[in-house]
Amino acid sequence: MKLALFVSGTGSNARTIIDRFQAHPEDGVEVVLLVSNKANAGALLMAAERNVPTLVLKRDGFNNSEALLDDLKHFNVDLIALAGFLWLVPAYLVRAFPNRILNIHPALLPDYGGKGMYGANVHRAVKANGETESGITIHYVNEKYDEGNTVFQAAVRLDPEDTPEKIAERVLRLEHANYWRVIRRLR
Ligand code: GRF
Repeated sequence: MKLALFVSGTGSNARTIIDRFQAHPEDGVEVVLLVSNKANAGALLMAAERNVPTLVLKRDGFNNSEALLDDLKHFNVDLIALAGFLWLVPAYLVRAFPNRILNIHPALLPDYGGKGMYGANVHRAVKANGETESGITIHYVNEKYDEGNTVFQAAVRLDPEDTPEKIAERVLRLEHANYWRVIRRLR
């Protein structure tokens, strides 16, 4: 299975996935492309160091042309995994990859999802509500933020003294442990 990763930032999930599949060819998943919407995303260097081709998106091109589809076709992409990718995926891309685009969200959807619920905002809201657990949701992508069918969830118990930063750390660890496994299952 040929996988494209879409990122906007650090790309620690992308790094974990690339490292896993490069070290385990028997998993049968090859990361063939890393796409970023930010030209200065740390993930671009990380991918280049691992010999994964990279592509930087421009907002206009992404939303208003289907040129990206040619690139995805060129690399024979079977599955797209969003890993900290902050733009809404346009309809043409969802239609071209029905149930073949995954996203990972750092909370137990449908709680703490939707526009504006990303990064530290999520963990601050979880903390503010005094939740006793949080977790991750891996779901298919449709044309709305965080609303596609759930593929996988895992929870982590929170301690009352956990700060939002601590919650973020624990949730991210759960992401790294699980995203590649879920991708491998979809081979
Ligand atoms: C993760 O928490 C993911 O759930 C969310 O964005 C974050 C990306 O982190 N969608 P990283 O760039 O993979 O380190």
